[in-house]
Amino acid sequence: MPRIAIGNHKGGSGKTAATVNLAAALAEAEHRVLVVDLDPQANASRRLGIGYGDPELTTSEVVKSGEEGVAADAIITSGWPEPYNERVHVIPARFDLENRISEAAVIGAAGRLRRALSGADDDYAATLIDCPPSLGHLTQLSLAAADRALAVVEPEYDSVEGAVRFRDFITAHAAELGSPGLAMLGYVISRVRANVGAHAFQIEGFGETFGQDQVWEPHITERAVIKDAADSASPLRVYGTSPGREMANVYQELAARLIKEVGV
Ligand SMILES: Nc1ncnc2c1ncn2[C@@H]1O[C@H](COP(=O)(O)OP(=O)(O)O)[C@@H](O)[C@H]1O
Ligand SMILES: [Mg+2]
Repeated sequence: MPRIAIGNHKGGSGKTAATVNLAAALAEAEHRVLVVDLDPQANASRRLGIGYGDPELTTSEVVKSGEEGVAADAIITSGWPEPYNERVHVIPARFDLENRISEAAVIGAAGRLRRALSGADDDYAATLIDCPPSLGHLTQLSLAAADRALAVVEPEYDSVEGAVRFRDFITAHAAELGSPGLAMLGYVISRVRANVGAHAFQIEGFGETFGQDQVWEPHITERAVIKDAADSASPLRVYGTSPGREMANVYQELAARLIKEVGV
């Protein structure tokens, strides 16, 4: 039961899109998945059909407590239709997750999510933790709890740099966060526009920057259906259009890679 922190030190790279759509693809492969929303924007929660302010228990309460196994109390089913809802479970977020940041200096603070998840996610094939676009305390909570990290990279200069900083931060600080074995799982390439020359240029450099075998295929292109399905809080395949099914198949291939890498 691997725990995977999904991040980049850059917003808008498609982290939450990858988290939610990989969860859907894993569910289609009949795996049970837990999504932990560690971004106070709560975009993953909303895209999974959880109404803002609906749940009483969120990652904010879970992290605040930080007690062994307490995350189990905050797990709910997604708001997606069957059979996704049976297989995709969520610990949702709310804006007040921000309040946990000021507690970072308290002894043991970085280990709060790890302790809270301990024993709570044993029954899932994978736990996907959606990180904010930051290397601060919330992302550190996630890295301290995770076994592996997955970067989501848009082929734009700032997004590539953000992914490099995410990777280098892990190399430099995983051990002091109590996660000495934390390793990069790979790089999902996202929001690729074929007609943008700069994208082709960036993609060419990925092998050298990240390691050829670490760059996951296929790349996710920029497609309106990904935004539309996200906006209507629907799994891509259920969204119903042929582009939706096409992109759901792309995420299935990426989920197959994830399954292969972590031995789900
Ligand atoms: N491949 C894609 N094609 C089209 N829109 C996308 C794609 N990936 C993400 N988006 C949209 O772009 C915006 C930013 O993506 P998001 O997943 O929220 O990024 P992040 O979590 O890294 O900030 C969202 O509106 C999302 O729906
Ligand atoms: Mg996000």
